[in-house]
Amino acid sequence: MIPDVDNDSLVYLNGEYVRLGDAKVSVLDRGFIFGDGIYEVVPAYGRKPFRMDSHLARLERSLKAIGIKLDMSRADWEKLVRDMLVRASSDDAMVYIQVTRGVAKRDHAFPAKAPKPTVFCMVSPFKRPAAAAREQGLSTVSMPDVRWLHCEIKSVSLLGNVLAKQHAVEAGVDEVIQFRDGFLSEGSSCNIWVVKNGTVLGPVRDNLILEGIRYGFIEELARAAGVPFESRRISREEVEQADELMLTSATKEVLPIVSLDGKPVGNGKPGPVYARLRAGYDKAIAAL
Ligand code: PDD
Repeated sequence: MIPDVDNDSLVYLNGEYVRLGDAKVSVLDRGFIFGDGIYEVVPAYGRKPFRMDSHLARLERSLKAIGIKLDMSRADWEKLVRDMLVRASSDDAMVYIQVTRGVAKRDHAFPAKAPKPTVFCMVSPFKRPAAAAREQGLSTVSMPDVRWLHCEIKSVSLLGNVLAKQHAVEAGVDEVIQFRDGFLSEGSSCNIWVVKNGTVLGPVRDNLILEGIRYGFIEELARAAGVPFESRRISREEVEQADELMLTSATKEVLPIVSLDGKPVGNGKPGPVYARLRAGYDKAIAAL
């Protein structure tokens, strides 16, 4: 029995549906041994996937980036996501997909003969951010970004992200804001946004951050609301002097950050740009 999960829920593992409590992977799976795999998290509202095309395009990019070949077409992935949503125990749900290089004798290099990749998918209830988080905002602390230089790959090698999130927990705050060489990168598992003089600023979409599916979405929402949007390198000083800070992810949607390192962001309350983007986000969910 795995605590805190629905052990009876059905998960997809290598072409079969099995009980979560019974699903097993070999100890020689390269995902277990090396973190040699990638993943994706697709949110759904009322059993309808949100921005699924972009999520599946990123899944395919991640697979390509680490040289895993699978004969799953886009239509096959879509079908898997939809099949999982039929099985979900709640209408709002998160579909988690993971693919590893498969099972092989332990050896760092890719096996000469590619093993069959391990494909796993589960669906969990999605508890949308609470009213308190939306209305009062989140607290953060800064920390150096010590992760590797391929953060654009949605890799399951997440030790850096895990330690970053634990740093937030131990500091008694909601999230971290990571900086590399004096410039903003991202949170432990979310993208960070700066608002200054009415403009939304996002860090450059390079190898130093995971380009969230909400990255393009925030850009769209800002433009639709007539809010100027810019992607560029953002210094630590700019983050510290921001009028507003926000974060986005599949699970957090868009939320305001009201403190950094114990100091208020702007006036310490969720700001007007956040309110407009939040309204746009809610409208897009309602229109699904
Ligand atoms: N995390 N940056 C990192 C490092 C992330 O792990 C995530 C998402 C994001 C935001 O991406 P998106 O908007 O596509 O959710 C940015 C997911 C939710 C997770 O690991 O559970």
